[in-house]
Amino acid sequence: MNQYPSFSLFFTIFSIFFLRSSTTTTLPPQLIALLSLKSSLKDPLNTFHDWDPTPAFSKPGFQPIWCTWSGIKCDRKTAQITSLDLKDRNLSGTIPVEFRYLLSLTHLNLSGNAFDGPLQAIIFELPYLRALDINHNNFSSTFPPGISKIKHLTFLNAYSNSFTGPLPEEVIHLRFLEYINLGGSYFNGTIPASFGSFPRLKYLNLAGNILTGQIPAELGLLTELERLEIGYNEFNGGVPVEFAKLSNLKYLDISGANLSGNLTPELGNLTRLESLLLFKNRFSGTIPHSFTQLEAVRYLDLSNNDLSGTIPEEFSWFKELTQLSLMNNELTGEIPEGLGELPNLELLLLWNNSLTGVLPQKLGSNANLQKVDVSSNSLTGPIPPNLCHGNKLGKLILFTNNFVGELPSSLVNCTALTRFRIQSNKLNGSIPYGFGLLPNLTFMDLSKNNFSGAIPKDFFNAGKLEYLNISENSFNTELPDNIWSAPNLQIFSASLSKLVGKIPNFIGCRSLYKIELDGNTLSGGIPWDIDHCEKLIYLNLRHNSLTGIIPWEISTLPSITDVDLSHNFLTGTIPSNFDNCSTLENFNVSFNQLTGPIPSSGTIFPNLHPSSFVGNEGLCGGILRKPCSTGGLAAGAVEVRQQPKKTAGAIVWIMAAAFGIGLFVLIAGSRCFRANYSRRFSDDREIGPWKLTAFQRLNFTAEDVVDCLSMTDKIIGMGATGTVYKAEMPGGEIIAVKKLWGKHKETVRRRRGVLAEVEVLGNVRHRNIVRLLGCCSNSECTMLLYEYMPNGSLDDLLHCRNKGENLVADWLTRYKIALGVAQGICYLHHDCDPVIVHRDLKPSNILLDGEMEARVADFGVAKLIQSDESMSVIAGSYGYIAPEYAYTLQVD
Ligand SMILES: *[C@@H]1O[C@H](CO)[C@@H](O)[C@H](O)[C@H]1NC(C)=O
Ligand SMILES: *[C@@H]1O[C@H](CO)[C@@H](O)[C@H](O)[C@H]1NC(C)=O
Ligand SMILES: *[C@@H]1O[C@H](CO)[C@@H](O)[C@H](O)[C@H]1NC(C)=O
Ligand SMILES: *[C@@H]1O[C@H](CO)[C@@H](O)[C@H](O)[C@H]1NC(C)=O
Ligand SMILES: *[C@@H]1O[C@H](CO)[C@@H](O)[C@H](O)[C@H]1NC(C)=O
Ligand SMILES: *[C@@H]1O[C@H](CO)[C@@H](O)[C@H](O)[C@H]1NC(C)=O
Ligand SMILES: *[C@@H]1O[C@H](CO)[C@@H](O)[C@H](O)[C@H]1NC(C)=O
Ligand SMILES: *[C@@H]1O[C@H](CO)[C@@H](O)[C@H](O)[C@H]1NC(C)=O
Ligand SMILES: *[C@@H]1O[C@H](CO)[C@@H](O)[C@H](O)[C@H]1NC(C)=O
Repeated sequence: MNQYPSFSLFFTIFSIFFLRSSTTTTLPPQLIALLSLKSSLKDPLNTFHDWDPTPAFSKPGFQPIWCTWSGIKCDRKTAQITSLDLKDRNLSGTIPVEFRYLLSLTHLNLSGNAFDGPLQAIIFELPYLRALDINHNNFSSTFPPGISKIKHLTFLNAYSNSFTGPLPEEVIHLRFLEYINLGGSYFNGTIPASFGSFPRLKYLNLAGNILTGQIPAELGLLTELERLEIGYNEFNGGVPVEFAKLSNLKYLDISGANLSGNLTPELGNLTRLESLLLFKNRFSGTIPHSFTQLEAVRYLDLSNNDLSGTIPEEFSWFKELTQLSLMNNELTGEIPEGLGELPNLELLLLWNNSLTGVLPQKLGSNANLQKVDVSSNSLTGPIPPNLCHGNKLGKLILFTNNFVGELPSSLVNCTALTRFRIQSNKLNGSIPYGFGLLPNLTFMDLSKNNFSGAIPKDFFNAGKLEYLNISENSFNTELPDNIWSAPNLQIFSASLSKLVGKIPNFIGCRSLYKIELDGNTLSGGIPWDIDHCEKLIYLNLRHNSLTGIIPWEISTLPSITDVDLSHNFLTGTIPSNFDNCSTLENFNVSFNQLTGPIPSSGTIFPNLHPSSFVGNEGLCGGILRKPCSTGGLAAGAVEVRQQPKKTAGAIVWIMAAAFGIGLFVLIAGSRCFRANYSRRFSDDREIGPWKLTAFQRLNFTAEDVVDCLSMTDKIIGMGATGTVYKAEMPGGEIIAVKKLWGKHKETVRRRRGVLAEVEVLGNVRHRNIVRLLGCCSNSECTMLLYEYMPNGSLDDLLHCRNKGENLVADWLTRYKIALGVAQGICYLHHDCDPVIVHRDLKPSNILLDGEMEARVADFGVAKLIQSDESMSVIAGSYGYIAPEYAYTLQVD
């Protein structure tokens, strides 16, 4: 006994030594098979490390050493390998021919690996195989012939691969098959009628392919079938009546399969059916009365069809019913009262129908209800009192109905509640105390009701509350003074809510990024401690009765983008800090009682529309036409008026500059900026000669460019970093010129570095990126020259603002644009050197060339990822940046 292992060891080493050099070897064939497998397959995770024929010690015993290797099972008596389980190892590569030496294999599991290319027919040489599992790989091309050689196969799982071509009809010769899953590939053509002739099949899955044609009636012959999943294909017609004979069927899923016509009434004969999933088809007509025989059903989902008529009363008899989903149909009538008494009901989804009447008042009494969504119907009556009886109700969605009455007080004890949306109803009474104590409540929308009375103080202790909307109610009260201290509240909206009193101090304001208090009668001042709201992006206080001055602290908020203080009684001057606040995009202080000159030394205000400032008797200068009595500031006024509106109608040209706006903003002197408005460039001798840096052959000079910019009617857009002109060169070519502006004169010396970075941009060449042709500069001004994109921006296209031409955003065009953008961004992210991150991708930055091909523009907020500047200043437009970035300023 002692001798055996070491002899075996010697034998193995000896054999392996000769394995490669000599073909004559007495190595056991099974070992050869395994070792060739190990050496042929790519094993990036080194999962074969224990497949080692030369261990110092192996357990003494009768089983060969390889029977102890991972994934291998041997027969105890014969020592033959019966099971090879190589799942989830990320293997790829070629299965060697020696594999067929594993003659006794009954069980082969290759699932969850990275195999690709055609399935190797060598697998079919294993005559005793019973279970073959190759799911979750990437085998492609057509299914190879030969599988009928595995005569005893009972289990075949090829789910989630990339097979193409027709379904392998050969499988029907496998008479012992009980389980076949060919779902999740690209099989096309029809389901062969012969698939109805498996004698023992219990499970058939062909879902998620691109199968077409009619579902063959012959499938109705599979009387042993318990589970049938053939959805997510593109069939014609409906469910064959022959399916009524599938008397053992428990699970039927033909969702998302383009089925049409009436629901097959014969399905009502499937009395063992536990799941019937036919959602997302085009079924019309009513729910057949025969369906009321489906008494075993637990999951019934007929949603997203065109079903009409009523919900059968008899569904109330389905004692097992756990989930009922009929949303997005055209159902009418009342919800059967009895549904409220179903003992097992957990999920009730009936939204977007035309249901009337009351919601069954006993709903929830079963203590199992978890989610109710009956939104967008015409339901009336009160909210049932016991919806959360078992304290499992997580989502209660009732919006856009005609519910009346008060909120059931029991809801405040519903600790499972996470989403509560009851907006657009006719609910009244006050909001009961206690919602703020619900530990998991994250989203609460009570807007557009008739709620009145005090707003409970506890709201603002709600630990997880992120969204609270109480707009358009009639509270007639003050805001609670601890309103801002909900630790995770991000959006607070209380517009048009008849709020009175003062805005509470902002102490404790931590996570809020959107505050809407417009359309109330709030009075007093804007608390100066608003700088506690460090994440604030959007502040809307318009149409109130606020007095006092505008706190400059608002301008110090690192992400503030949109501020609307219009239609109040604010006094004093506009703090000049706002003009330098680089994140600001909208700032509206119209119709107040502000006085003094509009700051104009910064970069923000000159780009705003004058309507942001109108209605203030005492304001002057800046972009208003009214000169200040002190003079000097009105210089640019007349010309500015001639500019087209900032965005509408014009091609919005916001252009590239591959590093943070900041750097560019710093380039040009304030004088250069003024020149933009009050002088012609050609006259501006003091600022030195223009120098043209070309990134490709250009047929014009810097002077040609400058000459073109003397007319304001050439302005096609304005962005945060400068003005964009359309310029026709002497040779007839049209280019777009972006003139950058800035204000810190002393930073002009940085220009050399800036120009070096522009040069990086000049080297960006891709058909989906707007090409930078060159750069014009003198000692104080920088202009970037780009290709001109005649078809405007995607933003214009989507909002039908394209100049003149009849461009349409059909789906093919949209697809093409989306693809182009993806390719452009992919290039910037992966192929550029250094890599460039855009950081402000939005429709107005996607320009369209003559062929309607997308070109990505405006790297104004992009930056070279290799520079080590911090990203703590928010870049991008509210609404288009990743929310978590806007919110945390963490780049991940
Ligand atoms: C799996 O292998 C592929 C290459 O075959 C490799 O790209 C991938 O990173 C691997 N995955 C893991 C988790 O190792
Ligand atoms: C193969 O492995 C997968 C992944 O663990 C498992 O789900 C599947 O049941 C296995 N197949 C067989 C036939 O045992
Ligand atoms: C799978 O294979 C197809 C073609 O054979 C290939 O296009 C695709 O990228 C592959 N998918 C993965 C995830 O490797
Ligand atoms: C199935 O797809 C292949 C390409 O993968 C195509 O050549 C063939 O015509 C398609 N067959 C049917 C019936 O659509
Ligand atoms: C979807 O079904 C309709 C009606 O049966 C048919 O006209 C249409 O061709 C089908 N669509 C596809 C993609 O097969
Ligand atoms: C459905 O069942 C009824 C009686 O239970 C029977 O008369 C009818 O023939 C069945 N329909 C089909 C299509 O099998
Ligand atoms: C609601 O149903 C109508 C048609 O009945 C459909 O046009 C609309 O898209 C649906 N709404 C949603 C949100 O799915
Ligand atoms: C909520 O629960 C508390 C304590 O469990 C109880 O005192 C109170 O009556 C409950 N409120 C309602 C409306 O059920
Ligand atoms: C709150 O949510 C957590 C995580 O989802 C869950 O584990 C916990 O049970 C919930 N609390 C209640 C009272 O439902």
